Parts: sequence; C-alpha cells; structure tokens
Amino acid sequence: MARRLTVLGTGYLGAAHAACLAELGFHVLGLDIDPVRIDRLAAGELPFFEPGLEEVLRRGVNSGRLGFTTSYEEVAAFGDTHFVCVGTPQRSDGYGADLAQLDACIDALAPLLRSPCLVVGKCTVPVGTAEHLSQRLARLAPAGDAAALAWNPEFLREGHAVDDTLRPDRIVVGTRSERAVAVLREIYAKPVAKGTPFLVTDLATAELVKVAANAFLATKISFINAMAEVCEATGADVTMLSEALSYDDRIGGRYLGPGLGFGGGCLPKDIRAFMARAGELGVDQALSFLREVDAINMRRRARMVDLARELAGGAFENRVVGVLGAAFKPNSDDIRDSPALDVAQTIYGLGARVTVYDPAALENARRAHPCLEYASSALDAARDAHIVLLLTEWPEFAELDPDVLGKVVTERNIVDGRGTLDPERWRAASWHYRALGRP
Ligand code: UGA
Repeated sequence: MARRLTVLGTGYLGAAHAACLAELGFHVLGLDIDPVRIDRLAAGELPFFEPGLEEVLRRGVNSGRLGFTTSYEEVAAFGDTHFVCVGTPQRSDGYGADLAQLDACIDALAPLLRSPCLVVGKCTVPVGTAEHLSQRLARLAPAGDAAALAWNPEFLREGHAVDDTLRPDRIVVGTRSERAVAVLREIYAKPVAKGTPFLVTDLATAELVKVAANAFLATKISFINAMAEVCEATGADVTMLSEALSYDDRIGGRYLGPGLGFGGGCLPKDIRAFMARAGELGVDQALSFLREVDAINMRRRARMVDLARELAGGAFENRVVGVLGAAFKPNSDDIRDSPALDVAQTIYGLGARVTVYDPAALENARRAHPCLEYASSALDAARDAHIVLLLTEWPEFAELDPDVLGKVVTERNIVDGRGTLDPERWRAASWHYRALGRP
C-alpha cells in the first residue's frame, strides 16, 4: 500500500507539497489551524493564486488520496512521516526569524508520536534550529529517539510551484537517521529516477543550503541593480549590460533581471534572518555584504519614487498616478513585501491620487492598502493619470498599446520599473518614457 504522509501547515509551501505528494500517488493528510482554509482546500479550492496547482489539488481530493484536517490527533494516527511546512516570518521586533509557528507545531505533534516515525522540516529556519528541534522531539515524543528528524528544505518559486515540487533541481536531506534517508529516497523516487540529485547532509548544512541559495539569488539581483545605479550616472543601459553579461556561462542570465528589485515572503526576510543568525554565531562580518544587498534593493524603490516625482513636475500633490502591478512578482497574488505596493503607498503618502491594477492581487492589495484606489483593468488604472508606473512585469503589460493607453491618460508619462517595455515604441507614440537603469 502507498505510504501515508502528512503535511503540517497548508500555506503556500504546504498546500503545494501536499497536493504534489498526492499527485505522486501517496495518501496525504494536510493540517492547518485555520478551519476556513481547511474547508476550502477539502473542497478542492485553492486559497491563493498559483498556476496549475488547483487542478493538482482537485485531482488529489477527487481521487480520495488527499484530505485535510485541523486535528493533530488525526495527523498522528494517519501516517508515520510528517512534513512540517509552517511559516517562519520575520520577527516584528527585529531581523531574526519568528519560530513561534514551528515551536507550536512540534509541541502539538510530538506528544502524540507513540511509535517510530519521521518528522521532516521543510520550512526555512536559522541554522541550528533543527538540532534544537530534534532534541525537543526526542524529549516530548513518547516514541523518544524513534521519532527521527530530517531537514529537507524546499526551493520552490511561487508561480512555478507545481513544476518545482514535482521536478526539483535538487533534493537535500539533512539527518542523522539512516531510516530517514531510506524513507525520503522512497518518497522522492520518481524525481530521483528522472535525474534529480539527492544529497544527504548533516542537519546544519541542509538548513544552510536553503538560506545560502536565497542569499545568493538576492545578491545577484542586487548586483545588477547596483550596476543600474552606475548606468543611471553614466547614461549606459543596464538592460543591454545584463544581456551582454548573461552570455558568459559563468555568470548566466537568471536572476540578473534589473528593475525594482526583490520582494515577497522569502528573499527579503531570509537574508535578514541570515544576518541576524550570523550575528548570534559571532560571524556577522561574513555576511555584512548582505546588508548592502538589502540596501541596494531598498534604494531601487526610492529611485522609482524619485523618477516618478521628476515626471510629475517635482511634487505629487494634485497628481493622478496609475500603477500597473501589485503582486511582488507576476503569476502570483502574493503581496508580501511587494516593491510595487511599497512604491504605490509611498507616492500616495506624498500626496498623489493612486489607482492600482493587478491581474491577480487586487483583493489582497485592497485589504492591505485600503487608502489606494483600485481598477479592474490597466486602462482604467491609467485613466486621467499624469504618470503611469509599471511595477510588476505581468505579461499583459508588455502587450499594452501606447496609443490606446495614451488616449485615456492626462499626460503621456511612464516609468518602466521592470524593463518590460520597448522604449522606442513608447517614445514614438509621444510618451515621455523613463526606466530604472536606462537612459
Ligand atoms: C524564492 C526562491 O527563488 C525559491 O527558490 C525559494 O524556494 C523561495 O524564495 C522560498 O524561499 O520559499 P520566490 O520568493 O517565489 O522564490 O520568488 P522569486 O521568483 O525568486 O522572485 C523573488 C523576487 O525577486 C521577486 O520580487 C522578483 O520580481 C525579483 N527578481 C527576480 C528580480 O528583481 N530580478 C530577477 O532577475 C529575478
């Protein structure tokens, strides 16, 4: 009979993991403390936007292999391999990670673990957390040492969750338990058979692989954005610079996209938590460059506001601004630390009337930023605007017709925050076109 697995926490990561494990043929029970979320998932309804995931969820639920609950007792009785996918956000009082959800999850689960089992951490944690959790697990679980811990970080990107989960670049398993390695090899047999590397490490290395990967990606983005600052001072074009660099295989073009910089629920908080942890370990100097990576990233948002102000004639009072994009990136409705909404909110605070359009994130944006106005199309967001700002590179924005948009605005001013538009085409249609890092 197929292995019975549980997934604790059905946020972005957990919901994708649970649905994809069911897709791989396992029996899966997902748990969350939020009953509304559980009811929706059990009805095959995804509580967030992710291309392709709802179909996988529905297939799992309809096959009878995928169920959801709010009961830890049911989870403990259901299977012997428990994936922990709860959130580890930034603390409200500093840079470190808030591990309250993780601690609460282990405290609720461990006392119910009476027979040999495996707890697999998938969330992003400060290095050293897993070691501490393995001791806590052994202490709290009636099964003692037979409740083994493994750390198996997740590398999925929002917008690509299904593909990244079913066909990951690599599978990393940190553990001291040979049984854990054998069980996870069996669970991931399909991707491994297709060539996905399976690396077994100690707990600390597995935790570090995840934060190091996100720190590297953030560094790459801030590198090209630092080059954009130099381009702005010299009249060079960062888009061409980035393309020219990308043909060098040693550099590569991915995560070298210049623009408004990174946001979301992962990169910003992960580099901050990494710095905080390095400080605790006495190696803060090793990661002091991440402070610069963070600062470069935040300066892009300030630069965007400056460019918009310049086009507005020096001040935002009595100006109408149309904002295209609210999600932290395209193909997502996630607005956590969204550069687009940060810029929109700042400009509103400086006195402009701001109307936002996003193909997927409008509802989330409206809840978080009720003072902004919202439109149901790019054209409506741009109506009467003195300046249009393109802040998230949804494909539909690349296809906007400058003549059509030009007819609804008050003045033809546009700032391209993501290097998405063809400057010549927009200038030919009498738009005053500005972009980050481009002449
Ligand atoms: C990121 C990592 O890419 C995943 O591997 C990781 O699993 C995930 O965090 C996580 O820790 O859970 P994600 O936050 O979904 O994934 O988003 P990315 O696609 O990496 O984009 C992050 C931000 O960087 C976005 O705001 C995007 O617009 C920006 N970005 C990306 C750029 O500004 N330039 C680029 O060239 C690429």
